[in-house]
Amino acid sequence: MWPNAEVSRAEPRPEAGPTGGGSRLNSKLPASPPAVTREPPIFSNPRLSLPLSVPGSPNEVGRRLGTMTRAGMERWRDRLALVTGASGGIGAAVARALVQQGLKVVGCARTVGNIEELAAECKSAGYPGTLIPYRCDLSNEEDILSMFSAVRSQHSGVDICINNAGMARPDTLLSGSTSGWRDMFNVNVLALSICTREAYQSMKERNVDDGHIININSMCGHRVPPQSVIHFYSATKYAVTALTEGLRQELLEAQTHIRATCISPGLVETQFAFKLHDKDPGEAAATYEHIKCLRPEDVAEAVIYVLSTPPHVQVGDIQMRPTEQVT
Ligand SMILES: NC(=O)c1ccc[n+]([C@@H]2O[C@H](COP(=O)([O-])OP(=O)(O)OC[C@H]3O[C@@H](n4cnc5c(N)ncnc54)[C@H](OP(=O)(O)O)[C@@H]3O)[C@@H](O)[C@H]2O)c1
Repeated sequence: MWPNAEVSRAEPRPEAGPTGGGSRLNSKLPASPPAVTREPPIFSNPRLSLPLSVPGSPNEVGRRLGTMTRAGMERWRDRLALVTGASGGIGAAVARALVQQGLKVVGCARTVGNIEELAAECKSAGYPGTLIPYRCDLSNEEDILSMFSAVRSQHSGVDICINNAGMARPDTLLSGSTSGWRDMFNVNVLALSICTREAYQSMKERNVDDGHIININSMCGHRVPPQSVIHFYSATKYAVTALTEGLRQELLEAQTHIRATCISPGLVETQFAFKLHDKDPGEAAATYEHIKCLRPEDVAEAVIYVLSTPPHVQVGDIQMRPTEQVT
């Protein structure tokens, strides 16, 4: 089942890379079809790519999202969604997509200036919803609790919680630093769990029975890539797989119709790899250069899809890879 034994046609790569960048996509096509090769490590330098047509820039994808009224999204209009890690990458794309669908979105992160810019962009674009920036360091429980308290006092409470914030540090199991492991655990596992608990309590106290908690997981939550720098990260994402299913069971036991979903992308072009390989920007850039990666907007589309399904439909997990990614 694991890629060491697997033979691939295209050599895919990791999850991560600079935000936005559809512009490089046609610039590195191989002269001839790639040979059959083993898959290279995730989050490292890939060697081959396949020719590919590029249907639209990220902005065009965004405009498509913006002009679509998604059937099933009407019931979420004016309701409140919390999106963690909304300062860039997938979280920013999700926040934008929700505002386009008419929701009130609290977007949180440490770099709140980015969210303020996004809020101004959404406003000037005339989207029907609103984006409310909130500065929060998710590795600090007090910050998280203060945020939920502010949401309660200023906007009633949370109807949808999108646990998106996440990060990776290149700390291996054999010689990595405890602080790097702790950082990953604090944000990817603990903050997600605290936000989930607080979001559920917010729904419960307001008798909200149709809420939704969506965890942005990863394909790394379903298989361990043979790349030492993301083994601990992968473990945190396996935790997200377990937490999402455990949550589904507890919500059912509590006799609610609140739904739990995770979305598990493969490589998405964001700043993720640049933060992982912060001492080697070349390695980070290479992460996204040789296959056509997912875009943050592709993941946002998946979020809109799971929200738009009828209340009796609970999507458990969406695994989505770039078409050229092998594992
Ligand atoms: N990119 C990929 O290939 C990929 C693939 C699969 C899954 N994912 C998952 O997708 C999610 C989003 O990642 P991304 O690719 O969009 O990465 P990104 O561009 O690096 O964005 C990460 C977001 O998380 C926030 N964050 C990190 N630490 C935080 C903290 N202590 N407090 C508050 N916010 C924090 C960041 O905000 P601040 O730094 O401003 O605080 C940022 O908004 C993550 O859970 C990641 O594991 C990514």
